[in-house]
Amino acid sequence: MGKVIEGFSKLSKSEKIDWITKTHFKDPKLAKKRLEQYWNNNSELQKSHDEFIENTISNFYIPLGVAPNFLINKKLYSLPMAIEESSVVAAASNSAKFWSTRGGFKTEIIETVKVGQVHFLFYGDSNKLYDFFIDKKEELLRSTESLTKKMDRRGGGIQSIELVDKTNRMNNYFQLHLRFKTDNAMGANFINSCLEQIALTFETEFNESNIFNESDKLKIIMSILSNYTPECVVKVELKSKISNLKSKEISNPENFAKKFVEAVEIAENDISRAVTHNKGIMNGIDAVVIATGNDFRAVEAAIHAYASKDGSYMSLTHAKIENDEFIYWIEIPISIGTVGGIINLHPMVKWCLNLLQKPNSKQLMSIIGAAGLAQNFAAIKSLITSGIQVGHMKMHLINILNSLGADEYEKTKIIQYFKANKVTFNSVKKALKKLRKNEL
Ligand code: MEV
Repeated sequence: MGKVIEGFSKLSKSEKIDWITKTHFKDPKLAKKRLEQYWNNNSELQKSHDEFIENTISNFYIPLGVAPNFLINKKLYSLPMAIEESSVVAAASNSAKFWSTRGGFKTEIIETVKVGQVHFLFYGDSNKLYDFFIDKKEELLRSTESLTKKMDRRGGGIQSIELVDKTNRMNNYFQLHLRFKTDNAMGANFINSCLEQIALTFETEFNESNIFNESDKLKIIMSILSNYTPECVVKVELKSKISNLKSKEISNPENFAKKFVEAVEIAENDISRAVTHNKGIMNGIDAVVIATGNDFRAVEAAIHAYASKDGSYMSLTHAKIENDEFIYWIEIPISIGTVGGIINLHPMVKWCLNLLQKPNSKQLMSIIGAAGLAQNFAAIKSLITSGIQVGHMKMHLINILNSLGADEYEKTKIIQYFKANKVTFNSVKKALKKLRKNEL
């Protein structure tokens, strides 16, 4: 066991690196070199990244890919995707191209309301608490005026405040449940600031009120936004006459549509399949959320909770056949922003938003939803036709070759060879060995 370090955060960047590399690496010089290799040459740019978080020692790359041909509400987009998994960008591009000639993605913003709560315990007569709340409701809202003024002007702000009795779940537990609109911002800071002010006013007014006796007690536990946003939802739909689904990969569209609907139905009814099905959807969603500087943990948490909203965890996409039409859709909560956070600070985020033609938050919700649906379409199409591994391993081939130390000439030769052969780690290893002995 090593020694606990005191005051690490107060060390300079280079002192932190020295301590880390000397304490945790057999070859500190090499470890330090690796970190430095990933620094940006532009010291201003590097400094701004250093300042995003605490104890920054370097940058951590994941590739930024682009999936073109997304026709969303009749407008064409190229989607920026930040992701490390091979075949995700190719799958998204493949779906986008396929649907671009079949009407594209149609989206509907169902709502854009976000939630925040003041959680507290109350010991006393709850009727008195309700009377007090009704009496002070306007005062609570008024106390946030300086915080909400700007947001109100943008058409946002606090939409409602309610007192909720949760004592059936936990003794003495109540909430102030607030609903917010935050325009083009994700709004976490705005919501949390409003909640903290509301909690303070609530407590002050409680202590000054003469409705309560000595024995009535209020204990504020915490004030925080909820990342569960079932009222901030986008629906994205794809629709086509079944016969129009015919393509190079779909020779029998009737069978394909039927099998597709059945595959989705399985994910609606089996948790083990549903989690993988939804993970594939998140491949597309997270990649765009990250590229546009949004909080993918918040989006993940909300979406998975939403997948369980009817009592058991199920597929986020749905499909049906109606009057010879294939109808396929996703409905998901996406709480994101196109202003605020690191959006104005991270040059690549700005670049990605420019690529998307500077969307507002509703447009970005639509784009992200389309990325999720496209990803799911590609996955199910492969699963019910060729199987997932053919495409996946083809895309993964370059990673295998890199891990085996193949040079550029060897890569070209081997990629050519595997156009007609099945890719596995061992088959690539064998082929490379043969090539090196001039036997391929
Ligand atoms: C792999 O990252 C995602 C898939 O497993 C999704 C799915 O099975 O639907 C291919």
